[in-house]
Amino acid sequence: MSSEVSYSKEPHRNSRFTINSKEPFNAEPPVSELTKSFVTPNDLFFVRNHAPVPDVCLDTFRLTISGLVQQPLTFSLTQLQDGFRKVTVMATLMCAGNRRTELHNIQPVRGVGWGAAAISNAVWGGVSLRDVLLAAGVGPYARNMHVAFEGLDHANGAPYGGSIPIEKAMDVNGAVVLAYEMNGETLPRDHGYPLRVVIPGYIGARSVKWLSSVIVQKEESSNFFQRKDYKVFLPQVTWDTVKSLWDATPALLELNVQAAITYPEDGTVIENGLPCSIQGYAIAGGGRRISRVDVSIDGGKSWNVAPMVQEKGSTSTGNHHWSWTLWIYKVDQLPTPCEIVCRAWDTAFNGMQSEREWNLRGVMHNSWFKVKVLPAEHASKL
Ligand code: MTE
Repeated sequence: MSSEVSYSKEPHRNSRFTINSKEPFNAEPPVSELTKSFVTPNDLFFVRNHAPVPDVCLDTFRLTISGLVQQPLTFSLTQLQDGFRKVTVMATLMCAGNRRTELHNIQPVRGVGWGAAAISNAVWGGVSLRDVLLAAGVGPYARNMHVAFEGLDHANGAPYGGSIPIEKAMDVNGAVVLAYEMNGETLPRDHGYPLRVVIPGYIGARSVKWLSSVIVQKEESSNFFQRKDYKVFLPQVTWDTVKSLWDATPALLELNVQAAITYPEDGTVIENGLPCSIQGYAIAGGGRRISRVDVSIDGGKSWNVAPMVQEKGSTSTGNHHWSWTLWIYKVDQLPTPCEIVCRAWDTAFNGMQSEREWNLRGVMHNSWFKVKVLPAEHASKL
């Protein structure tokens, strides 16, 4: 691919997206639409690109499997589709930068700003990474290695990439998919056509799009996005002091617990005493289930448990929960003005931070989510 950066062949996009950056394209659906369906329609699924979308020709497209394998392999897409059983996995992807804008409001964060909708849920169809690695001669109990991925897009002159521990890649229930379908349709260009890896339970950054190579190696990927991005530091760490910390700080892999309110939005006007169906999502990392979502309508002084909608165990997910949890908490008479707050817990009782804490890259921000609802008198004054 030419090193010249050109955005002349970008795909057509939904006009309802909130665009956070045009080139490279980064966009999220309106938060009010996000939780209207358990599975996100393809054209509303958030998009997180670091470079122009590659214009991939299927005739020349190849996936290579190399590194510490007994048998290096090369596949066209058809060979992958014909050579392996098809698997489908429902899984939510969330960008580690979801809710970055809230941190940016404390102190500027370099990078694309995101509201609370850098998250979406889809059914991914493809082949199992484990099956492909087994075919390349990787042992079923391989450990202490990493599986690195490279995409066909070039961010800052090098291919986008990352890696996961081989234990996750080879986990028979790990559900890592080399996906060529999204919600039953051909994988859209923005989401990695013709092939991407989907790593359920991990930050979105590891689910490399436009996948061209899989390398089994001793060390984690040396890619910028594994080693020098997507890491969390103490609030006092700056761009000067971070240099000595990159290597010593682990790369983010599994998601933390996250929850947000999608209705009402911050600043919504509702007449005092009217009923209100408060809605939102929650998600946990590593396949853990959300065990409870708590909602407060008095700014966090008192809490109640919100009813949840979750995926049922299926052959592809077993007891793992790779998808988000949606929730609705109905209030008969909402006293306005008020501050609605939500927080969630997973089955290991991992929760969310009660206060916002800034970090250099603005990632993994999961403080209690808060919205202010205003009384009707306020609307007449606007
Ligand atoms: N893969 C490639 N090749 N290039 C990218 O820019 N972005 C990553 C990941 N995979 C990216 C990539 C990030 S940060 C996220 S959050 C997810 O893709 C987003 O996937 P989506 O655009 O399908 O929502």
